[in-house]
Amino acid sequence: MSKPDKYELLAETAKRRGFFWPSFEIYGGVSGFIDYGPLGIGLRRKIEEKWRDFFIRREGLLELDTPIIVPERVFEASGHVEHFKDPVVECVACKRSYRADHLLKEKTNIDAEALSIEEMDREIRKNLLRCPECGGELSKPKQLGTMFKTTIGPYVESTAYGRPETAQGIFIDFKRLYEIGRERLPLGIAQIGRSLRNEVSPRQGPLRLRELNMMEFEFFFDPENVHSSKFETVRAEVLRLVPAEKRLKGDEEPLSVTVGEALERGYILNPWSAYFMVQSKRFVDAIGIPPDRQRFHEKLPRERAHYSAQTYDHEVLLHRWGWVELAGHAYRTDFDLKAHMEGSGVDMRVFKPYDRPIRKTAKRLIPHLPVLGKKFGEKTKRIAEKIIRLDPNVVEKTLDAQGYVEIEGCKIGPEDVKIVEEVSEETGRRFVPHVVEPSFGSDRLLYAVLEYAYSRENDRVVLRIPRDMAPVQTAVLPLMAKDGLAEKALLLYEALLDGGFDVEYDETGSIGRRYARSDEAGIPVAVTVDYDTLKDDTVTLRNRDTWKQVRAKATDIPHLLRAYIHGEKEFDQLGEMVPGNSAA
Ligand code: GLY
Repeated sequence: MSKPDKYELLAETAKRRGFFWPSFEIYGGVSGFIDYGPLGIGLRRKIEEKWRDFFIRREGLLELDTPIIVPERVFEASGHVEHFKDPVVECVACKRSYRADHLLKEKTNIDAEALSIEEMDREIRKNLLRCPECGGELSKPKQLGTMFKTTIGPYVESTAYGRPETAQGIFIDFKRLYEIGRERLPLGIAQIGRSLRNEVSPRQGPLRLRELNMMEFEFFFDPENVHSSKFETVRAEVLRLVPAEKRLKGDEEPLSVTVGEALERGYILNPWSAYFMVQSKRFVDAIGIPPDRQRFHEKLPRERAHYSAQTYDHEVLLHRWGWVELAGHAYRTDFDLKAHMEGSGVDMRVFKPYDRPIRKTAKRLIPHLPVLGKKFGEKTKRIAEKIIRLDPNVVEKTLDAQGYVEIEGCKIGPEDVKIVEEVSEETGRRFVPHVVEPSFGSDRLLYAVLEYAYSRENDRVVLRIPRDMAPVQTAVLPLMAKDGLAEKALLLYEALLDGGFDVEYDETGSIGRRYARSDEAGIPVAVTVDYDTLKDDTVTLRNRDTWKQVRAKATDIPHLLRAYIHGEKEFDQLGEMVPGNSAA
């Protein structure tokens, strides 16, 4: 039997300890769906809280919550009905379907995402690929829409889709949020919520879900004023980039470049993308992923979504799956707002007043109707309309050069048209803002946090989740459930609850087993109440990662724990070191 890999080990711990497991288990399961248990929900909440703090709070974004079910018109306008498709092959014998590009990657290591349907078909034939399940022949690949389709009410004509991204809710509400935000750019609008994607044959657990949790924002800015003072604060920050230019030469090694250089060399198209890529890296560092296990991988033009002028995937290196996207950074330009302007007929432009009005002079053509009427009779009206539409500067030059302009074979001379110069004042500009979009997948972030936290000590699991991300921050453990120890421990438990901590009380089993359980749940500090507590009101704090112990006053625990969780104190600073104390 082969040794289980990290994914299998982690999936087993996740299931047993209540992080996540396959949905609909008692009916045999359906791939692409997972259930989250108490620890999984807690960890996802911590990831979302950190994301909210990093982006919504610190970047001053406005948050929105829009429906998951969306009328068809919206996705027709946005281009999803036409473009949100995956290449699928079917087994001619057993009728199972597969993602053609994934099958090629898995079986031949060909990066097939950028290939056309014909190219994929050629590669499948050339590499003699067959159905992985029954060995049957595979059909020619075809593009299949992957949005879940439904109707609103019982009306077949009210077709709707489950949103495959939260972004469209943001674009649709842009004008309202722009007003709420006091009509200023740049403006960031965020949404955290579920999206649905009817994936063809998802076989990657929490990494490819049909119902997924997303955290995204659209950052709207004036394309004629991309300067960002925020960018200047990160200009010297180094990112590991694999630009498309490198990939096209077959080179997938990341370059370590400052974002300033990346912008100058044209690797990143605009400063706002660069700024948020840095913030994205800082966020992923903060949830416990080492910087050298992250990279930004630019999509090739053929791999990009239909709305994007440039996309960098922020990827993490995972044990079984290799480089996996945690976030996408797309420069969506004005694509979506323009699409909805066309689809709905609502003006999505913003008005930006100039500091001072600009005086403009422009020439205008005025047809001389009485003269034209005498010459052209019933054709006069049509000719006059055509004259008005001509470029006055061109008419002026042509009259100077040859004495007439020709319309429908009629010669129009200087006596037929007057050229006047008019002065007007322009008070501002109307334009459709451009957008950069950082979009994160919470389920993948959660999996990556767990994989990097997973370790084994003395043949048991310790989840070294960053201490401010742990779903349960502390466990209160009476050494014995008798002699008044449990009562004392419960008082401390209540005090910690009152202090707002996520805390667990556990009196079942030996103290060693309870430490092991709390390590496996990723609880950073366990607090033990013992017989000395009854004498001097001190308790033992035990560190999940080092198994070291310190002794401190029970009444000090809430503030000591807070300082430790927030990184203001290290463990050894929390109390008196207990000698010889790295016991399990
Ligand atoms: N909104 C980004 C995505 O759908 O991937």
